[in-house]
Amino acid sequence: SRTVVVTGGASGIGEAVVRRFTARGDEVIVLDRRKPGSPVHFVETDLNDCSSIDTAVDALDRPADVLCNVAGVSGASPVPLILGVNFFGLRHLTDRLVPRMNEGGAVVSVASTAGWYWRDHLAEVTRLIEAPDFRSGVDTGTALLRDGKDAYARSKEALIVWTSLAAQRYRGHVRLNTVSPGAVETPLLPSFYASMGHAELDPLTELAGGRNGRPEEIATVVEFLASAQATWVNGTDVVADAGAEMAFALRQN
Ligand code: NAI
Repeated sequence: SRTVVVTGGASGIGEAVVRRFTARGDEVIVLDRRKPGSPVHFVETDLNDCSSIDTAVDALDRPADVLCNVAGVSGASPVPLILGVNFFGLRHLTDRLVPRMNEGGAVVSVASTAGWYWRDHLAEVTRLIEAPDFRSGVDTGTALLRDGKDAYARSKEALIVWTSLAAQRYRGHVRLNTVSPGAVETPLLPSFYASMGHAELDPLTELAGGRNGRPEEIATVVEFLASAQATWVNGTDVVADAGAEMAFALRQN
């Protein structure tokens, strides 16, 4: 059995990811600020705080095979928190944990279709990625980004682009990929809707066939990318949104 670290495993998509790996017989360790409902190994961690992340990494008593970065906050949160949890804390954790992971392992991070337009914002995204550490990254981003909606999108764009760069850096040791869900039925969704505006999201729901995704429908994609079935998938973003964002982009032209 493998050792699988899951951030955000106490709720929503992360909880579904924990269920998948537990069902396979893997050892799951949840890093979250809230205690999970299921009886898994739990390390209370604030992913917006580097010293809390370092303590959690030091508390792990064996090397991990898989890291699933699922924890995140919506665009309704304060800008520094969005940047901290969704990107800079995630990056800090990943860079700390990967050197301690078993060879052949995998990192799967949950981004979002909110990060779809990363090519249009590459200058800002590059500035975020080039920030050398958590503190300077959050400060740079907070000076750059006006509202939570922009901060959310940019945090996910930075995650997608950084993952690709990190996959080159860690090649031969572990693979790194992102999964970008469209709207998924979780406790985060109402505040996500509030920050994005229904007018923007309704056409996407329609293009997704009139419903939101279920957490399990994202967890299965995470499971695949983490598995030995996905050896030739690296440094890329896998969109799981029933085809809505692509259809929407084509409709705009
Ligand atoms: P959720 O709110 O149900 O779960 C998020 C989990 O992250 C919670 O257990 C929470 O305690 C944890 N968390 C948040 N901040 C933390 C911190 N500072 N330290 C430790 N743990 C923290 O949200 P959901 O919907 O399951 O989201 C999971 C990921 O999926 C997020 O990264 C989100 O951006 C992404 N996503 C969600 C979509 C949706 O429609 N629900 C769509 C696209 C992406």
